[in-house]
Amino acid sequence: MSLKKHILDLRKRKEKIEMGGGEKAIEKQTAMGKMTARERILAILDQDSFTEYDLFVEHEAKDFGMDKKQLHGDGVIIGTGTVYGAPICIFAQDFTVAGGSLGLMHARKITKIMDHALKMRVPLIGINDSGGARIQEGVNSLAGYGEIFYRNTIASGVIPQISVILGPCAGGAVYSPALTDFVFVVDNISKMFITGPGVIKSVLGEEISMEELGGARVHAETTGNAHFFAESEKECFEQIKKLITFIPWNNSTKAKEFPPKEPVFKGNLEDIIPSDPRNPYDVRDVIRGIVDEGDFFEIQELFAANIVIGFGRLKGQTIGFVANQPLVLAGVLDCDSSDKAARFIRYCDSFNIPIVTLEDMPGYLPGVDQEHAGVIRHGAKVLYAYSEATVPKVTVILRKAYGGGYIAMNSRHLGADFMFAWPTAEIAVMGPEGAANIIFKKEIEEAEDPNKMRAIKVKEYKEKFANPYVAAAKGYIDSVIEPNDTRNILLHAIEVSKGKEVHHPKKKHGIPPF
Ligand code: HXC
Repeated sequence: MSLKKHILDLRKRKEKIEMGGGEKAIEKQTAMGKMTARERILAILDQDSFTEYDLFVEHEAKDFGMDKKQLHGDGVIIGTGTVYGAPICIFAQDFTVAGGSLGLMHARKITKIMDHALKMRVPLIGINDSGGARIQEGVNSLAGYGEIFYRNTIASGVIPQISVILGPCAGGAVYSPALTDFVFVVDNISKMFITGPGVIKSVLGEEISMEELGGARVHAETTGNAHFFAESEKECFEQIKKLITFIPWNNSTKAKEFPPKEPVFKGNLEDIIPSDPRNPYDVRDVIRGIVDEGDFFEIQELFAANIVIGFGRLKGQTIGFVANQPLVLAGVLDCDSSDKAARFIRYCDSFNIPIVTLEDMPGYLPGVDQEHAGVIRHGAKVLYAYSEATVPKVTVILRKAYGGGYIAMNSRHLGADFMFAWPTAEIAVMGPEGAANIIFKKEIEEAEDPNKMRAIKVKEYKEKFANPYVAAAKGYIDSVIEPNDTRNILLHAIEVSKGKEVHHPKKKHGIPPF
């Protein structure tokens, strides 16, 4: 055969495999509003940057009629490419081929690209659209998942791992994403569960739809398993690309610096906090007022909204923001918001991203539900994560910093490098009303007019403690600052912390409260 003929033969073979499960299966996929695995990869990566590997891999299964089945690419596409120039390893499961189910060779393809990602120290994106372990391949499929989970864990904190859920994902197809850093879901397309509605019905007799059980909204709002929610695959891919711009390629580098931009905030930071301390405000307005171009990229926006986390830039440098949200539950820490904050703090610490904490919260949420749900161990995660983090850590107390909240939200005592407070800050063991009721109980009870006496004592307490100056007098707060100076002061704090080095005692690893 001439070379030309060899090339034509190669092209024909490729074309056939690239059709995945064939025209009918692709039509079914498209009818569900889903892109194909190949289209998804091409939509995420820079144009013409994708190089595929293992296209010709075939399964070796024989049981249950598998010896007669040809599964193109064994139901998964792997390769490398770039996103805005950043090198990326990527895989996409192809639901048109045996429901994207994971057999031995399918798993080997995924572990091959994971090994590349770890060796080359570049981010890994996994697009999951799979019915989980391929039933016909028995223990080989389970072995495949185990090898993926192992690599997810070893790569954790070394390279960014991003999971995209774009179909009905069951069993192992959701445990691997759960071990990764960021999970993206799309409304009406993503479903995640360990056991599907069928199993639930047969075991428990309960009826529930796939959407209600594990739809995108459920995971973005209720379980917290998803970090980003999108209305369409296109929007989801834009979110992934934007995330890539904020994070470094691996844990030995820093996120790419962008050209410095001024904030575009139209208002005045002094006008955000209401004069009545009982009134809420949106802390995201403060963040937007501080960061370059007002561009704040929020993570887990719909879950545990009493805390806000996400990335922004200060003069082109990526910063991780953690902020209490007075708009929701007065910004308290509870089980979910503690988990959300702690995990993000650990992410920033692993990937050399400085953390800015904005504090306004009355403490941990009281109540039987919270206590029984384990708020002690969940809340302790925040203490652990801040104490352990060695990246530059700066706190600005905007308003309330009461009790455990004062300590937990990156206080000086947990290792904050710089502590600033707005003049509106109130730093105390508890709010003035509660405190006056306890420490002046006797005077209030014995007074002729207890309400009047209570008001006097509350005022007395406020004047004494509900301000930043007691803490500033003790050096716990480095500086009381004007709101409009916040950006410049943060810029300076981050700039002078660039060479920060902290060495904790050598250990294999800590044992954080789970
Ligand atoms: C083999 C599978 C499969 C699987 C789907 N298919 N899941 N083949 N093993 N696990 C095949 C179907 O036979 C069908 O093949 C094609 O994929 C499309 O599936 P449908 O059922 O027609 O699609 P749909 O109605 O959209 O339902 C999708 C689904 C459902 C919800 C994912 O297929 C399903 O429930 N699958 C089983 C899920 C599951 O229990 N997986 C095992 C989890 S245990 P044809 O040839 O007809 O097109 C696990 C172990 C690891 O993963 C645990 C680690 C901790």
